[in-house]
Amino acid sequence: MRIYLTEDYDAMSRRAANLISAEVIRNPSCVLGLATGSTPVGTYKQLAAWNQRGDFSFKEVRSVNLDEYKGLAPTHDQSYRYFMQTNLFDHIDIDVNNTNVPNGLAADPVAECARYDELVRSLGYADLQLLGLGRNGHIGFNEPADIFVKETHVVDLTQSTIDANARFFASADDVPRQALTMGIGCIMAARRVLLIASGADKADAVYNAFCGPIDPHCPASILQLHSDVVLVGDKAALSKLVAAGVPVCE
Ligand code: GLP
Repeated sequence: MRIYLTEDYDAMSRRAANLISAEVIRNPSCVLGLATGSTPVGTYKQLAAWNQRGDFSFKEVRSVNLDEYKGLAPTHDQSYRYFMQTNLFDHIDIDVNNTNVPNGLAADPVAECARYDELVRSLGYADLQLLGLGRNGHIGFNEPADIFVKETHVVDLTQSTIDANARFFASADDVPRQALTMGIGCIMAARRVLLIASGADKADAVYNAFCGPIDPHCPASILQLHSDVVLVGDKAALSKLVAAGVPVCE
């Protein structure tokens, strides 16, 4: 595992964008696993700027997103499809038909999860899977639980996640209580995982994920078993790892 320590959020975003663009340049038709949340916003901005400058193209890239809120339409301004359109897809030359986000409005969410699992499998899994990190150690919407769930599934969001995501909604009552999320199986099947973290409120989750036991109560800890993980985090997010003496590169 390689850990890059960056000065701040902007530097984290540039480093992550560098790694993603390197993947796209190396393999123009790669499959990118994409994430939502506030952490990747700067990474997406940087990628869009380089793409608009003509440095590289997303024309042949295929993408699979991690998750979607159950019950939100793609046009809802807090849906993850809407997030991806407004933060990345609308600003780059990707073919929208090659982008995939679970359908939060599916009449049969369990069938939708099975369809999504099969889709990701048929694409050969992600060449590079970008991940953010929940304060409780969740990845995608794989919440702390007694077991790691392998398949794409419908999940009940924990109160901690509802509270953390309430800032994007008019009130905590408006946050959907369920989501569809890629399971740990698809995430671990990605050839490379790139986890990004910023801010002091992620320091415990980062520490638990990479220095704690491999435990489904900290879902990100499963990444310790992946053979190609890159963690890019700013000083605040990596503070506990650094204090514990974990080697990092700059
Ligand atoms: C959400 C998403 C995750 C994301 C996490 C952290 O719940 N489902 O994919 O990593 O929140 O979000 P943020 O980056 O805003 O802290």
